[in-house]
Amino acid sequence: MLMPVVVITGASRGIGLAVTRSLLKEHNAHVVTISRTRTPELSQLIQEHERSLLTLECDIANEPALKSAITRGKDHFGQIDGLILNAATLDPMGRIDNADITLDDWKSHFDINFFSLITAIRASLPGLRESKGRIIFVSTGAALRGMSGSGAYCASKAAMNSLSRMLANEEPSIVSLALAPGGVDTAMQAVLRDTGAQHMKATDHKNFIDAYNKGILVNPHDVGYVIAALSLRAPLSLTGQFVKWDNEECREFRRK
Ligand SMILES: NC(=O)c1ccc[n+]([C@@H]2O[C@H](COP(=O)([O-])OP(=O)(O)OC[C@H]3O[C@@H](n4cnc5c(N)ncnc54)[C@H](OP(=O)(O)O)[C@@H]3O)[C@@H](O)[C@H]2O)c1
Repeated sequence: MLMPVVVITGASRGIGLAVTRSLLKEHNAHVVTISRTRTPELSQLIQEHERSLLTLECDIANEPALKSAITRGKDHFGQIDGLILNAATLDPMGRIDNADITLDDWKSHFDINFFSLITAIRASLPGLRESKGRIIFVSTGAALRGMSGSGAYCASKAAMNSLSRMLANEEPSIVSLALAPGGVDTAMQAVLRDTGAQHMKATDHKNFIDAYNKGILVNPHDVGYVIAALSLRAPLSLTGQFVKWDNEECREFRRK
């Protein structure tokens, strides 16, 4: 039987690295990673999974580079069954009236967190239609909330959710699913704790500090398993939905 092929963006660290590890080690998949950086952890996976892992270096805001990375990934393994849109940035952080943040900063944010999704989807759709595959949008609860000091991030993730819903309607043979991973113990959370006080309301910032101090942040290894499993097995009944990784809909995709 052919092994499934999953393409994932932002696999150099955090959630993306955990998903990649899970796909390779727990789900027996072939994986194409698209990241700007080759971290020691990613290099280790390359050594361990020479045949089933293809790592491509690319800034996802670079349209031709992202398009050609996805085409290369598909040509390398001959198919594409899953696309995980995980790479994202928080920058620029700051209130909307912060004069140091230009409109171009907001546009650059949208190039990474939103317009890259369009490029990746367009490049993958023919292959995903053939395989009746799945797209997992790694979103956030902030897409539904107005988290202070994070306007660009909240807006781009809300746009991501909207795109996922629309795609479910346009592409009935493909599962299009947005997922909130909860507060996960990654570099992104560290940035929010370390620099959030300058940008956010004190109550919003305190939520991040408290979650860390109470030890309730999610382990990337656990949410990584769920995202990996969904990219391979999410049913059409979930298409168009926005799910939280630890809700009932995802129960059967959690590690036993
Ligand atoms: N951590 C949380 O609590 C949390 C909560 C809700 C949602 N999320 C979502 O989960 C996803 C992963 O977050 P994380 O916590 O793992 O974040 P992270 O540790 O900051 O990792 C972000 C990843 O995105 C990549 N990336 C950023 N900009 C890129 C670009 N222009 N081109 C290519 N790759 C780029 C980074 O790669 P480089 O090495 O190239 O920088 C890195 O691999 C994001 O979509 C985030 O919004 C996270």
